[in-house]
Order: sequence, then C-alpha cells, then structure tokens
Amino acid sequence: MKILIVGSGGREHAIAWKIAQSPKVEKIYCAPGNAGIEEYAECVPIKAMEFERLAAFAKEHQIDLTVIGMDDPLVGGIVDVFEAEGLRVFGPRKNAAILEGSKAFSKDLMKKYGIPTAAYESFTDADEALRYLETAKFPIVLKADGLALGKGVLICNTLAEAKDGVQEIMLDKKFGTAGNCMVIEEFLTGREVSVLSFVDGRTIRTMTSAQDHKRAGDGDTGLNTGGMGTFSPSPFYTKEIDEFCQKAIYQPTVDAMAAEGRPFHGVIFFGLMLTADGPKVLEYNARFGDPEAQVVLPRMKTDIVDVFEACVDGTLDQMELEFEDNAAVCVVLASDGYPVRYEKGKAIEGLDTFKDKDGYYVFHAGTAKKDGRIVTNGGRVLGVTAKGEDLKSARANAYQAVEWISFENKYFRHDIGKAIDEA
Ligand code: AMP
Ligand code: GLY
Repeated sequence: MKILIVGSGGREHAIAWKIAQSPKVEKIYCAPGNAGIEEYAECVPIKAMEFERLAAFAKEHQIDLTVIGMDDPLVGGIVDVFEAEGLRVFGPRKNAAILEGSKAFSKDLMKKYGIPTAAYESFTDADEALRYLETAKFPIVLKADGLALGKGVLICNTLAEAKDGVQEIMLDKKFGTAGNCMVIEEFLTGREVSVLSFVDGRTIRTMTSAQDHKRAGDGDTGLNTGGMGTFSPSPFYTKEIDEFCQKAIYQPTVDAMAAEGRPFHGVIFFGLMLTADGPKVLEYNARFGDPEAQVVLPRMKTDIVDVFEACVDGTLDQMELEFEDNAAVCVVLASDGYPVRYEKGKAIEGLDTFKDKDGYYVFHAGTAKKDGRIVTNGGRVLGVTAKGEDLKSARANAYQAVEWISFENKYFRHDIGKAIDEA
C-alpha cells in the first residue's frame, strides 16, 4: 500500500513510525512532514490546509489511504474533499470533526444525550456573558468555541479575571473567529486522563490511557502549552473507571454522533476529569493527541494500518486492539522561552544515539534540515520517549535519554510523570 500522512509534528512522526512497521506498506509520503519524518516517509511540500493540492497529489501517486493527523484540516473538511474525489481517507468528515471544532456543539451533544460533563452555558453575545458572570460561582472556566491551538481555555478565579477573559475572547478576538461563541462552564477538580479511541461510525475501540502535562513549568506552573510531556498508562485510570466510561461516555458519544446524522470515523480523544462524582468529559478531540500519540503508539501491538482500514470500512467490530503490558514516558524538549518567545535554528546533537536502542524513540516536533544538519525549528522541538516495564522505569529511561540530546537553548520539564509516585 501507499500511504499519505497529513501533518508535520511529533504526533505525525509517531504515526509514520507506526505505519512503517506494517508489512502491507510499501511507500509512505507525508505532507508537509519534518526532518524526523523523512526517515520513514518522503516529505512533500504541500501544506495541510491545501486540500485540493493534497487530493491531486494522492490521485497522481495512487495513494491507497490518506491519514489526517491534525485538527485544522479535519475541522476544515479535508475528508469531504478527498471522499468527493473517490479517495480513501482516515479521519472524520467535517460534520463529525465539529466534535472538536465547536465546544458549544460538543457540550450541547453531551447534554442532549446525558453524557457526564461540567455544567455550562453558551454565549454569542458578550454582554449576556458578562451579565451571567455577575451571579456565577468562582473559579469558573471560559472556553472559546472554536480551535485555538489548545490555548482558548481560561480558568478564572475572580469576576474581574473572567470579565477580562470575555473581553479577550469575544471582543478583542484573541483567538480570532474561535471566539465568536463562548462556553462558560463549571470548574471541575480531579485527575485528568486522556483516552484515545478508534471509531468506525458505530463501534469504538479504546487505546491504552495516557496523561498530558500542559503547563510550561515544573510543578504545573507557567503558561499553557501544546503539551510538555506524557505518560502511559495512567495508574489512576482503573478497570472500574474504564467500565464506567465505556458504558456512560465512549459508546454513548459514538451513538449520539450517529443519531445526529454525523457518523464519526477516525480517532476520538476523550479528555476526562476523574472527579469525586465520577469521570466527566472536559473536551473531545477528533484526532490523536500530541504528545499522547508518542507514548500510546509505541505500546500498541496491533497493525495500525489494519485498524485505519477497519475504521474507514466500518468493520472495527471484528477487531480487538492489543497493547504491551508495560509503560512509556515522553519528555518534550522545547526551545527555552516557549510558548512565548524563543530562538530557532540551533544545531541538534545526539539524535543518532537513539538508532540502535530498543524502546527509546525521538519524535521530531519542530525541526528542519539546514546545510545537512538538523536544527531546531519550533517551540516544541523533540519528544523523547522511552518504554520501561513500569512507569517508574519508563520515566528513569526517558530522563536518561533526554541527556543524549543537546542543543543550545534546550528546555524541558523535570517532573513528567511525577504524579505516578502518588498512585
Ligand atoms: P480543554 O482544551 O477543554 O481540554 O481545556 C484545557 C485544559 O483546561 C484541560 O486540560 C484542563 O486542565 C482545563 N479545564 C478545561 N475545562 C475545565 C473545567 N471545567 N474545570 C477545570 N479545568 C478545566
Ligand atoms: N495533548 C493534547 C492535545 O493534543 O490536544
């Protein structure tokens, strides 16, 4: 088979690495890809939002399956464009990707179908939102409706902060049109867990659990980022919690989308909060998490191409997923100053050390090739992943591997997976 991957981050590198292990695959392309993905795929300089050019490329190169990694093209309807051209593609259509593309949509869906989530109200008018806040309980959570690079969520401790938040999101349009509508919701407390799943329109198969670390600094301080590290599985995600979520959250979400005439094919990412009142959905994403994919896929035993095909064809009920009985930790190496201001173009040393080491991986997030060398090219640069027989050894291995890499402004969190000590 010939496969095209759309995307350019650490997640797409992990997807490319996993696809490359399938005996069915003879050639992989990635658009636009990055310097690490090049090891497994021929990178083509077409951007993820250039749907027509991507579809034309897929036709011309007789691509058997295209896999969309990123949220923007999915929400923008890339799958519909490919399907209209008769091309096979893994990912939700536009009318299903709205599960991630609109928080107001996903909240209304959960309310209508009784799926546990935080209480909320949606607003399209800033004055109404401000009036609502006058009598609200704090802390409270403001969310821009649309895609905002994971940064459109504000947790406000006081009325003054919340008023500023409404100003930023709805009036100043800090996140652009994503802020035309806003959800205001109840603040939940508990442990967060990410559960990724494959869905074929009717059947859902969940992957092993993971947990992300969104804040930039040690001890969950500093600004929100795209994710500074992950571990898998989550020791807090017990069998009982899983059974509850399968019944009350996962299958009901898939059924709800089908009932709404929006059958979902692809990956649903459930962002969960394990509250004292049971698990609740914080958010849905319509794709693999980044950097969740970097710890989940290395532990997956099943051929991912078989799973992709089953999701497209609606035959997932005939498959079970298998994961290794071990653990993985991913530490993101970023450029110092991320997510605000940082320098790029620094030469990266030590990448070759990973080549002959089983259970150690370096997934590229923001890198480029310059004069034959690999240099930093983004805020998040690399995801260093290591496996171990349990979380503690995976974490020790990951932090050892972090030392193999050097670049001038290397920055990383030192406490990825620290929560596992409390388990
Ligand atoms: P989201 O993009 O919806 O996952 O939100 C980003 C982050 O904000 C989540 O990972 C949580 O840490 C936090 N968050 C979102 N919604 C809530 C909520 N209702 N209560 C507390 N924290 C939240
Ligand atoms: N790691 C969170 C996300 O991919 O949105």
